[in-house]
Amino acid sequence: MSARPASGQGSHAPPAKGKPITLSKLSEKKALGEPIVMVTAYDYPSAQVAEEAGVDLVLVGDSGAMTVLGYPSTVPVSVDEMLMLAAAARRGLTSPMLVGDLPFGSYEVSNEQAIATAQRFVKEAGCDAVKLERGGSSVERAAAIVASGIPVMGHVGLTPQTATALGGYRSQGRTAERAMEVVEDALALQDAGCFALVFEAVPSELTAAVMPRIEIPVIGIGAGPSTDGQVLVFHDLLGIYDGHAARFVKRYGNVREEMIRGVTEFAADVRERRYPEPEHGYTMAPDEAARLNSMLAGA
Ligand code: KIV
Repeated sequence: MSARPASGQGSHAPPAKGKPITLSKLSEKKALGEPIVMVTAYDYPSAQVAEEAGVDLVLVGDSGAMTVLGYPSTVPVSVDEMLMLAAAARRGLTSPMLVGDLPFGSYEVSNEQAIATAQRFVKEAGCDAVKLERGGSSVERAAAIVASGIPVMGHVGLTPQTATALGGYRSQGRTAERAMEVVEDALALQDAGCFALVFEAVPSELTAAVMPRIEIPVIGIGAGPSTDGQVLVFHDLLGIYDGHAARFVKRYGNVREEMIRGVTEFAADVRERRYPEPEHGYTMAPDEAARLNSMLAGA
């Protein structure tokens, strides 16, 4: 286990280990101008890595549909699949706040559907909060979930669940009119009681213009430097996912290459009979081995 600086050491030190991140801690970070770090995780080991790295928020994103379940988009993933991923991530976490992404089709129909799905994320997977996408009808759903006692994170700009309607996986809000729609969605979600917002793939100018109007933490992904925090998808930032990477992805590792190297070496060792070596096996006392051989000879 690596040593982490004590709380208060350094201006933007990671949170003290074991101290859960609360909603008021996030507001405090925004007020103090301390950048908020969010990363996705979809299982026990990735959550443990996020915990050890000292991030503030872990999102079990529906991006897991693509990065760990192999679907071509986020649309097909089911609530049950997301709950399994979220429950596994929960088991790897102590300090970061755990946010579960409500998948496409699990909250749009009615406030009752939205509350029931959000409750499953809290009760069955142990999430602290949920996230939903878009403004429009999602604003009322967000307000209903908040009123039921579950914190909600909104998500505006590029919303992958409805990417087809947005013209594909492309940045949003590049004209003043379309930027105003994104701004209105963000302000409506704030008014609905969301505790934080994700801004995805929007021009930096849009973000900078609206930030003075937003009182809740804004976490950006391809939204420029003026947000209160940043999020990246675990498999993108570590170079595990081999699908298309958006312009905003910065690679901090090439873990997929390292995994392929390791498995390739293992396969070669097995084929060349270099593995296992004596230290990888178990032994019998020589007299027991001799007794076994004579038993087999007499069998
Ligand atoms: O699903 C996801 O990973 C997300 C992040 C990109 C914010 O929604």
